[in-house]
Amino acid sequence: MRERAVRHVKGVLLAGGTGSRLHPLTRITNKHLLPIYDRPMISYAVEALVTAGIGEIMVVTGGTHAGEFLRLLSNGEEHGVGRLCYAYQDRPGGIAEALGLAERFVGDDPVLVMLADNLFGRSIRPTVKAFAAEPHGARIVLAPVTEPEHLRHLGVPELGADGRVVRIVEKPEIPPSSYCVTGVYCYDPSVFSVISTLVPSGRGELEITDVNNHYVASGTMAYDVLDGFWGDAGESIDAYYAVNDFVRRHGVNRG
Ligand code: G1P
Repeated sequence: MRERAVRHVKGVLLAGGTGSRLHPLTRITNKHLLPIYDRPMISYAVEALVTAGIGEIMVVTGGTHAGEFLRLLSNGEEHGVGRLCYAYQDRPGGIAEALGLAERFVGDDPVLVMLADNLFGRSIRPTVKAFAAEPHGARIVLAPVTEPEHLRHLGVPELGADGRVVRIVEKPEIPPSSYCVTGVYCYDPSVFSVISTLVPSGRGELEITDVNNHYVASGTMAYDVLDGFWGDAGESIDAYYAVNDFVRRHGVNRG
């Protein structure tokens, strides 16, 4: 039964944006097409979803290199995707805005959203299975991060004494915990009505953290704490190379 439930979770890979933190590399291509060891970055994100049991995936991208995603991934067979769809983001308007483009694709199903520059040492399958078993509200994946300087570039949860998330602060000056919110988010289909209420943040984007805080406020936010490696290859050029080194040595998405 559970295996069947996993198949009902749809996957959305967010692969747009300007990749400004990797300029000038990303002036000439989309960040998610840059190589990580021996494959373009997006391939690992597709693999993460497929190995988690997700068979229907939408890739949301934009900019002048969107066509290369079709050349690389085609209809998905080679990557083991049952149904692969694409959406085009006219202008970079934030993660939540990009997710909004997947509304019709997701329909009434639960969805796992992944930022395609995030790489995970271990398979995210346990998170997908846990959400598929109880597909209401939201579920995020936290990773322990010790350096405050690193946390200042991420979303950081404040945790209450009972271990629940009290709120999530995006790019906090003073990080409220030693965990970051990674770029894997599970939502029930009500996420699209949440997105429609958002207003742009100071950086002019619809923030995924605002979506998550909505679920926190309604008491329906669950989380897993990551076991193993996590990296955001788009965070900086050093992070990009740290992820490359890890993948070359150890691989990712391992069972
Ligand atoms: C985004 C999210 C942030 C999260 C990070 C993970 O940040 O806004 O909460 O911790 O991804 O990769 P961005 O990469 O857009 O700065």
